[in-house]
Amino acid sequence: MLVEAEDVSVSIGGRAVLDGETVRCAPGTMTALVGPSGSGKTTLLHCLGLLLPVDRGRIVVGGDDVTGYGAGARRRFWRDHAAFVLQDYGIMDEESVAFNVTMRSGLFGRRVTGDLERLAAVLEQTGLGGRQEEAASHLSGGEKQRLALARAIYKQAGVVFVDEPTASLDAVNRRKVIDLFAGFAADGRTVIVSTHDAEMIEACGSRYEIGSARAVAA
Ligand SMILES: Nc1ncnc2c1ncn2[C@@H]1O[C@H](COP(=O)(O)OP(=O)(O)OP(=O)(O)O)[C@@H](O)[C@H]1O
Ligand SMILES: [Mg+2]
Repeated sequence: MLVEAEDVSVSIGGRAVLDGETVRCAPGTMTALVGPSGSGKTTLLHCLGLLLPVDRGRIVVGGDDVTGYGAGARRRFWRDHAAFVLQDYGIMDEESVAFNVTMRSGLFGRRVTGDLERLAAVLEQTGLGGRQEEAASHLSGGEKQRLALARAIYKQAGVVFVDEPTASLDAVNRRKVIDLFAGFAADGRTVIVSTHDAEMIEACGSRYEIGSARAVAA
């Protein structure tokens, strides 16, 4: 699914945070949003993911102008097409690792009812193998980050929005995470990543310098 921002501007508290940004994130490609801290990468990522409204310009998904989507349409987009790996991870601390990945449980109690084989596989892939039953609150920062990643992999969404996925990881896990997202893109998904990580940027098929309103082909 092609995800585009056309001439998008956003002001927060009277200050211009984004000024006429245009990006085109194609399926089958990993697209990097790069730029110095405070340049607006996270803000643009949130606009593209319909988490934040734009003041000017358009967000276009699969050729459709979705800028004016109401709450219901946005929720359907998130449910059916999008996975997010954001900076605060969105982990529910009081829930188990398994629930955080599948987001499904039985009506009574905490029994997880998703695809348990896929669950085991994605936990293995993210270095969390065998830890289904643990409370998410027991995980370290980097482990929570990988848990958020496991959820995104489990969901098999067409569009994956990722904010600084390698920020608190060691070199080995960084490489794993980069390869995982590159693999998503190779599967034909749209992967949009805000990052400072040179290795991650290197793995991206296209790159936009945010704040300069200028696209740079990688
Ligand atoms: N909710 C908010 N309220 C006030 N200012 C905000 C808000 N969100 C973002 N900003 C401001 O907008 C600017 C861009 O923020 P953003 O988080 O998009 O930058 P970034 O490029 O992702 O930075 P970093 O690399 O540090 O993550 C910053 O100056 C920030 O202070
Ligand atoms: Mg950011």
